[in-house]
Amino acid sequence: MAFAGTGKIWMNGKLVDWKDATIHVASHVIHYGSGVFEGARVYDTPKGSAILRLDAHVKRLLASARIYRMDSPYTQEQLEQAVVETILANGFKACYVRPLMYRGYNALGVNPLPCPVDVAVMVWEWGAYLGAEALEKGVDVCVSSWNRMAPNTFPSLSKTSGNYANAALIRMEAEANGYSEGIALDTFGFISEGSGENIFVVRNGEIYTPPLSASILPGITRDMVIEVARDLGYRVSQENIPREMLYIADEVFFVGTAVEITPIRSVDKITVGNGRRGPVTEAIQTRFLGTIKGDFPDTHGWLTYVKDASRAPEPAAAGAKSR
Ligand SMILES: Cc1ncc(COP(=O)(O)O)c(C=O)c1O
Repeated sequence: MAFAGTGKIWMNGKLVDWKDATIHVASHVIHYGSGVFEGARVYDTPKGSAILRLDAHVKRLLASARIYRMDSPYTQEQLEQAVVETILANGFKACYVRPLMYRGYNALGVNPLPCPVDVAVMVWEWGAYLGAEALEKGVDVCVSSWNRMAPNTFPSLSKTSGNYANAALIRMEAEANGYSEGIALDTFGFISEGSGENIFVVRNGEIYTPPLSASILPGITRDMVIEVARDLGYRVSQENIPREMLYIADEVFFVGTAVEITPIRSVDKITVGNGRRGPVTEAIQTRFLGTIKGDFPDTHGWLTYVKDASRAPEPAAAGAKSR
């Protein structure tokens, strides 16, 4: 869906109009993909708008930056406040949040170090990523002919803009062949993840998900799903999963901020289970979405209520840590 092109974007400590949130074409990030980013969701809950796992998203942003020797000009707390400020400035009850840290304008060359580290936070209204029906009916996917990156090439623990060149190949190929999404294998042939989602497989009542060593992004939804599944009494193993498990699984589902928990009803045109959302997927979905919507208590402390988190910026937060 195209952007409305209105509202405010937070750029290096200031809220600017959407149309003015521009960068120079000579910025390093455009040429070399030297950015790290996050994607979080704000939900409209009975107790007001709440950001899901704000702390974890900002923590992962800072970790992504650290891997690429980017010295963040802002602290964890300042970045959390920037997110809250941007949500409030735009007045959305529910939205998607995109914090972005990137190498900006100074000089060009592969080495990003001479370029400044700039930060922006955008928010926009974004519905179900794989279609509204997908959450219940499931999606048809394929195993991609593209692998995820090999270990010690592009670090998968960093949510780096450059990594999404690989994700785009997976996604475009899937769409070209009539599928909603592609599942990539790692370079050893084990299941890794979707182009923008982690994956879970259920067989004989046990739940499996690939380990961090399978070139996956350490998903925050993955983390929550593991906790919810364990709260519900399921065993969850993080281990290498052979491709063919997708074809004999009772249930397979994607998880991620964008897709939330989306069942997979077929892989490579082979029906998963009975071709509908399975009972384990449904139980986890119900508890996960119910916790966000207030049907179950937020025992893990995952929600940050926007109105409680908002506070007047301290003098240090108005400028930057080292700007
Ligand atoms: C490649 C990839 N894997 C997994 C995920 C799921 O991560 P999260 O649950 O933190 O959104 C995402 C989404 O950010 C992603 O882009």
